[in-house]
Amino acid sequence: MNRHIGVLDSGIGGLTVVKELQRQLPGEDIVYFGDNRNCPYGNRSEEEILSLTMDMLEFMKSEGVKIVAIACNTISTLIDSYKDKYDFPIIDIIRPTVDHIINMNTYNIAIIATEFTIKTGAYEKQLLKKNSDINIINEGSKLLAGLVDAGKFDDSQTKEVIETHINNMSAKGDLYNLVLGCTHFPIVEDVFLSLAPELNIINPAFQQAKAIRQYLHKENLLNDKEQGSLDIYTSGDTEVYSKVIERLNLKNIKGITTHNVNKAAI
Ligand code: DGL
Repeated sequence: MNRHIGVLDSGIGGLTVVKELQRQLPGEDIVYFGDNRNCPYGNRSEEEILSLTMDMLEFMKSEGVKIVAIACNTISTLIDSYKDKYDFPIIDIIRPTVDHIINMNTYNIAIIATEFTIKTGAYEKQLLKKNSDINIINEGSKLLAGLVDAGKFDDSQTKEVIETHINNMSAKGDLYNLVLGCTHFPIVEDVFLSLAPELNIINPAFQQAKAIRQYLHKENLLNDKEQGSLDIYTSGDTEVYSKVIERLNLKNIKGITTHNVNKAAI
């Protein structure tokens, strides 16, 4: 039986993972949940993030998914707290990206992510464990995920915020390889590149989609159809979704539905 891949994020950012899944696994049906009403998660406490995440995972369970992609770096930093609570596999976005960076054999890497992700040191700890010689520039952003989630892709404020981050990172060291460690950020990758065309951008969405593809292939769980579909659910406004769908050129949308999954108000 063909079952869905579940993808969840605090908002629209996880659609960058959906884009990669549609490219690498065109026959897969995807159910997406974006918690736009409670976004940004990156400025919240660990308890709040976990509680909101469990509500989304319960929704994925009710959809009968075969696997879930945690298409959010912030939520992925807490993977050990929830990954064994369900009978479907849950794949985070950080581990496959760390493996990729290690395979790059580089000694310089910069990571821009939410303040929460940076504070947990999730990327830094995993990278240093595998290569203690690697130089890491960390940059936390308080504003960028919220601006992107509000659909302000080409606004002057978004450009100014990105410019400040690029300047901060350049002041900290040799800025060349840059991980967009928040799934919202690849939506404005063009703004990063317009300000610093020399950057080698690493998009974790590609690595996560690859990890999902490898898992489904290994477990013989791939769909047997040629063209999959995309069902989108959000706890917030559906309007911004139309903008991202166009920007990312997502395909075969079955619907965009407003749906609240929270048991308690946060
Ligand atoms: N998209 C999320 C991430 O990858 C963060 C956005 C937020 O702060 O809610 O970290």
